Amino acid sequence: MVHFGHANALRQAKALGDYLVVGVHTDEEIAKHKGPPVFTEQERYKMIRAIKWVDEVVEGAPYVTTLETLDKYNCDFCVHGDDITTTADGIDTYHLVKAAGRYKEVERTRGVSTTDMVGRMLLMTREHFKRGQADLGLDHSATIPFTACSQFLPTSRKIVQFSEGKEPRPGDKVVYVAGAFDLLHVGHLDFLEAAKAEGDFLIVGLHTDPTVNRYKGANYPIMNLHERVLSVLACKYVNEVVIGAPYAVTKELMGHFNVDIVCHGKTPIMPDTDGSDPYALPKSLDRFKCVSSNNRMTTERIVDRIIQHR
Ligand code: C5P
Repeated sequence: MVHFGHANALRQAKALGDYLVVGVHTDEEIAKHKGPPVFTEQERYKMIRAIKWVDEVVEGAPYVTTLETLDKYNCDFCVHGDDITTTADGIDTYHLVKAAGRYKEVERTRGVSTTDMVGRMLLMTREHFKRGQADLGLDHSATIPFTACSQFLPTSRKIVQFSEGKEPRPGDKVVYVAGAFDLLHVGHLDFLEAAKAEGDFLIVGLHTDPTVNRYKGANYPIMNLHERVLSVLACKYVNEVVIGAPYAVTKELMGHFNVDIVCHGKTPIMPDTDGSDPYALPKSLDRFKCVSSNNRMTTERIVDRIIQHR
């Protein structure tokens, strides 16, 4: 998978130099050494390219990083997180670059991993899920999403590190979009790219966990609000994030951020609690645009893939 733990590794790697080249393995290589990937290689290439600290992607990089690969792409050194990864035969995938003194390490982000994400998705299918919540000492009387299971501790520092921290420049056309953006995927990225193309400064409003739970149902969201914030902030099309945006786009929100245009994709718009259209205001002002991602990926499809590969 591609998650904000990866984005944080790439952020640290970029800070060690000037230009970041990211080698991404093929599905075949991953299946051989690790097990079937959740996302296809084409999806993973696209997701890595959309991370704002990435300058270049090398498609189909060899599983064991060679000095020839580093030289071919003019890389001085190779960076990896501080855990050992091995081939199917148990060989350290970075032994060559380590021996050559062309290896540096960055700290892994605690509390987020593919294993953890996959675990949460599998939990959704379990009948005894509610009991699991009780075991954790959580209140399961309400439709509480199990995102409380997250082991990740969000801090203000991490948000600062991921943020651009810039205001729109005078004259910038400000675009606003809102949604769950749960398990940020290629469909979201194509949508964000299209929305960004409608203006100069893109603000993404992220709905709170109970709001997402209300309109997505079941045990969504898979990722809690803080995790979704970091995932979206890592995306190169995004300039600013609203942490817990109101479900309906209000006059106050549009005025506060000087929003010129509000966009939504082609997926259905769920009504607000009172049955009203959350985009009624921008529509009445002729400031609403439906943009197409031309991509049919959804969060639910990712969950389906996980369950199929179970
Ligand atoms: O479903 P969610 O709230 O995460 O969607 C956020 C935004 O991304 C919505 O505007 C939705 O229409 C858009 N989207 C899209 N194409 C997809 C998935 C989502 O345009 N494949």
